Amino acid sequence: MTSAKIAVANLKGGCGKSTLAINLAAGLATRGSTVLLDADPQGTAEHWGSQEKVKGMPRVVATGSEVLKEIRWAQSTHEYVVVDCPPTLASGYTEVTLEQVDILLVPVLPSPPDLWSSLHMVEAVEQARKVNPELRAYFVRNQSEAKSALSHAMREALKFCGLPLLENSLGRRAAYRWAALEGLSVYHFGARGKKAVSDIESIIEEVLNHE
Ligand SMILES: Nc1ncnc2c1ncn2[C@@H]1O[C@H](COP(=O)(O)OP(=O)(O)OP(=O)(O)O)[C@@H](O)[C@H]1O
Ligand SMILES: [Mg+2]
Repeated sequence: MTSAKIAVANLKGGCGKSTLAINLAAGLATRGSTVLLDADPQGTAEHWGSQEKVKGMPRVVATGSEVLKEIRWAQSTHEYVVVDCPPTLASGYTEVTLEQVDILLVPVLPSPPDLWSSLHMVEAVEQARKVNPELRAYFVRNQSEAKSALSHAMREALKFCGLPLLENSLGRRAAYRWAALEGLSVYHFGARGKKAVSDIESIIEEVLNHE
């Protein structure tokens, strides 16, 4: 795919939506023109984008309540659009987004309560497919730890939770936090971001090449 609209959403707070959205947008920006839409009134991505820029960072636009209008503008002006969604359906922003995008990524932390909360997204995807039948949706593991038995068990459990599970995941890495603290993506974090870049690159390749 040489263009794509990708939403990152989960009703579970703190599961890594903004972290994934920011770094996904940074990775896509190395491939083509990219805009990161912040549809979350908390403004995490907007705040990140408002910090001092280095070359190659994606543009960040806060949608406010104009989610539909901004997605339409973004897709007509950029090759890649990433939407960071709020952790709730209350505002209606997530539903509007899911009706517009090609791909949904649902980050899930390796703990059972996080998994249970994330199951609500399966229902949201079913609703969205009534108007957007082509929507492709995946769970993606965040803060995974290769040697952790719990991470392994969660990976097995996620295979049976109603959405396909991406093979690749984001590891639990300080680089994601440090890069954010400095207003950077892991792509702009030199050697310290190398492993995290490898996570994100694998996710991008899997998602863009997965039909
Ligand atoms: N893979 C990771 N490794 C280490 N820290 C991480 C990772 N992913 C996210 N974090 C940290 O976890 C916290 C929550 O992440 P983030 O803000 O991306 O979640 P969110 O789902 O967008 O939250 P909200 O629901 O409030 O919008 C942040 O401090 C972030 O830096
Ligand atoms: Mg967020």
